[in-house]
Amino acid sequence: MSQNVTPYKDSGLGKKEQVAQMFDTISGNYDGLNRVISFGIDVKWRKKVLKLVADKNPKTILDIATGTGDLAILMAQTSATEIIGADISEGMMEVGRKKVTEKGLDSKIKLVYGDSENLPFEDNYFDAITVAFGVRNFETLDKGLAEILRVLKPGGVFVILETSVPTKFPFKQGYNFYSKNLLPLIGRLFSKDRSAYAYLSESASVFPHGEALNNILRKIGFIEVKNMPQTFGVATIYTASKQ
Ligand SMILES: C[S@@+](CC[C@H](N)C(=O)[O-])C[C@H]1O[C@@H](n2cnc3c(N)ncnc32)[C@H](O)[C@@H]1O
Repeated sequence: MSQNVTPYKDSGLGKKEQVAQMFDTISGNYDGLNRVISFGIDVKWRKKVLKLVADKNPKTILDIATGTGDLAILMAQTSATEIIGADISEGMMEVGRKKVTEKGLDSKIKLVYGDSENLPFEDNYFDAITVAFGVRNFETLDKGLAEILRVLKPGGVFVILETSVPTKFPFKQGYNFYSKNLLPLIGRLFSKDRSAYAYLSESASVFPHGEALNNILRKIGFIEVKNMPQTFGVATIYTASKQ
């Protein structure tokens, strides 16, 4: 499963350390790469996540696996007064902190070191929690999701945006061609770290999506679990809540 797919297989490090190292390495190229590999469509998906969260009028928001902070920054458009982005890659957050400062959002958004599998926050604290393209990088998915449930307020909203794999012809075939041939090529153009881009496409192809991820969320204890495939199923937005 996803735990076995790692960026630097022979490094002797655990998945978490490998993932943090990989994102530290590619942090300078990450934003540009993101726009290119999704043809810019990720911006549209992120705005949908914003609307789902904004509709709940949250005061406190946690964006886990915040990376360079794009989603946390977007969340400043909600009614929230406290937005925390947490990540295990200081390199990614360094890029994000500069963006937060440039946008004059330092008083509202803090990017802090935080491992989803051991979150440094009290129980039932956040009105809304988001994770964009992060859950498939967790070392132990169940542990990460259980921690998210712990810090979410009862009645709060949890939104995941994650890559998924189209299941219908011809999108399935188109996606396979793209991820096996074009994605590695784009990766090579953007960075010398070939393993990183091989990991990005390999981890996307094996990660549970759709009803499989819905069932994992339900098993952890989330309620009102729903998935909304985006753009022929190349990404999916999941929403869930807490009793
Ligand atoms: C593909 S990036 C996504 C960044 C950002 N959310 C976005 O939408 O662009 C995945 C991020 O997940 C972070 N990550 C992986 N495992 C994590 C964990 N256990 N806890 C917190 N962050 C984690 C990585 O360091 C990386 O910054």
